[in-house]
Amino acid sequence: MTTDATHPTVTDEAVNSFDGAPDPRLRELLTGLVRHLHAYVRETGLTQREWERAIGFLTATGQACTDTRQEFVMLSDVLGLSMLVEEVNARRAEGATEATVLGPFHLTESPVREPDATIDLAGGGEPCVVDVRVRSDDGTPLPGATVDVWQADGHGFYDVQRPDTQPPGNGRGLFTADAEGRVRFRSCVPSAYPIPTDGPVGTLLAATGRHPYRPAHIHFIASAAGHTPVTTHIFVAGGDYLDSDAVFAVKPSLVREFEDIEDPEDPALARQFGLSGPFRLARFDLVLERT
Ligand code: BEZ
Ligand code: FE
Repeated sequence: MTTDATHPTVTDEAVNSFDGAPDPRLRELLTGLVRHLHAYVRETGLTQREWERAIGFLTATGQACTDTRQEFVMLSDVLGLSMLVEEVNARRAEGATEATVLGPFHLTESPVREPDATIDLAGGGEPCVVDVRVRSDDGTPLPGATVDVWQADGHGFYDVQRPDTQPPGNGRGLFTADAEGRVRFRSCVPSAYPIPTDGPVGTLLAATGRHPYRPAHIHFIASAAGHTPVTTHIFVAGGDYLDSDAVFAVKPSLVREFEDIEDPEDPALARQFGLSGPFRLARFDLVLERT
């Protein structure tokens, strides 16, 4: 057998090596991968040295992964792969909320919060109220739906990144929708922030002249019985980087105004959230698709 990677038959040989794979889907995925990788090497004329650097890069990416950091997912994110997988699999009912990336800062155990509670435990920025209605794609409200929320503060940091200034669980909450399918909470307006750049993904962005910023956003995972859960964000309208998100996750349907409520039009609402001065108000319908 030849060891010359440019030999015209090596691709067929590698593809055919999976002929006996008992799982047809695994065979399809691996033969497709081999074909595309081989085509890429031929098309670019990849050199031995470049191949070695690529292996070194992937090795470093694996070595940068820990229990709290998934550098491979971030690599997939900055290459647009995570969003592509999402898009290829999107089979949404008309009007259902669009999904976007999960990102590396979700914790499986967000603190359970009471209705209207604040998730800004550290006074992390401009106060805001987020008013969410959870409903089914047929318009019916979904009482009892759960909404997991997490966000960076007004300085662009998650609690896990600033344990010295943010208590654990800051910027996070697990809420249950009320009888009208409503979830409201108080927070601070998040700011744009850079994805972690101290690993191989950061090196790749720097080497290619790309910035690492994500536009300001709040993450949500909404779940309700009989419905497909959705992992999504809202983005702050008018913010920086909406047209150049480092992970390609912005969808126009997810951009929301955070209205200025200068002289609270609804003093009862302000009082309910312990607010006396100006604040921002964002409204968001989370529409879930029936299973
Ligand atoms: C995030 O929004 O938390 C995020 C998403 C992808 C990569 C890095 C961060
Ligand atoms: Fe985020």
